[in-house]
Amino acid sequence: MNATPHEDTSFPYDALLETASEAARAVGPRLRKAFRSRPEVATKSDFHDPVTEHDKAAEETIRAVIGGRWPGSAVLGEEGGATGSGRLRWYVDPIDGTANFAAGLPFFCVSIAAAVDGELVAGVVYDPVRDDEFTASTAGAWCNGTPIRSAGAAGDREAMLLTSYPTPRDIAAGDEALRRYGRFLTSFSAVRRVGSAALKLAHVAAGWSDAAYGTRANPWDVAAGALLVRQAGGVYLGDPLATGDYLACVGGFDLAASALAEVAP
Ligand code: IPD
Ligand code: CA
Ligand code: CA
Repeated sequence: MNATPHEDTSFPYDALLETASEAARAVGPRLRKAFRSRPEVATKSDFHDPVTEHDKAAEETIRAVIGGRWPGSAVLGEEGGATGSGRLRWYVDPIDGTANFAAGLPFFCVSIAAAVDGELVAGVVYDPVRDDEFTASTAGAWCNGTPIRSAGAAGDREAMLLTSYPTPRDIAAGDEALRRYGRFLTSFSAVRRVGSAALKLAHVAAGWSDAAYGTRANPWDVAAGALLVRQAGGVYLGDPLATGDYLACVGGFDLAASALAEVAP
């Protein structure tokens, strides 16, 4: 009997990255066409958690590409949940930054990562508006094929922090969240709430921002971005394959002296 790729003992990581890239790019035309069409928005867990028909359709397309190349492999997708099984597992966020996408704000992306035996080996963050494709594998990290380096500010006073903290859930947990946010605002050169955890991490990986912090992120939000940051020479703290907090910064950033030190996972 022929072994399917996910049953093999060695996985060609280049081929996994190629599949992630093909799947992410496959939904580019749909997302570009729908962008700024003010698609109808439904909500999931609460009214801060939007979803559109395009999130679901994009995930179906991505799953079809992955399933065609790696039949039966495990997929954890934001819209479709967990399917399949085996040593190879894909993490799929068809649109990370749906609130931005739905409103017409050009900061959202497709995020796809592959892990073998629980180790991240390939990741793609694709920004369909700018047509920027960030890719990472065990061999390195690139933007549109050019190697990227996570380098920038050495400390808070020169640094751009990207964060959605505090979220409504963080606020509900108590007053400390706003006090902490105040410390971030006064310590950092600039703090921005741009949305899209995956694209924030890709920007830190490219050295276009210096730090990113988020709470209760899901693996589909951060798996590809975490690999990008690490492979570009930056620092990623937190477990990207479990739901939880994350903190990322460019290489050489003085985290110990940062206002972020108190939240380091
Ligand atoms: C969300 C975005 C947002 C982050 C949330 C995520 P979605 O993903 O990444 O920036 O703060 O935690 O859930 O819902 O747009 O895919
Ligand atoms: Ca997401
Ligand atoms: Ca999403």
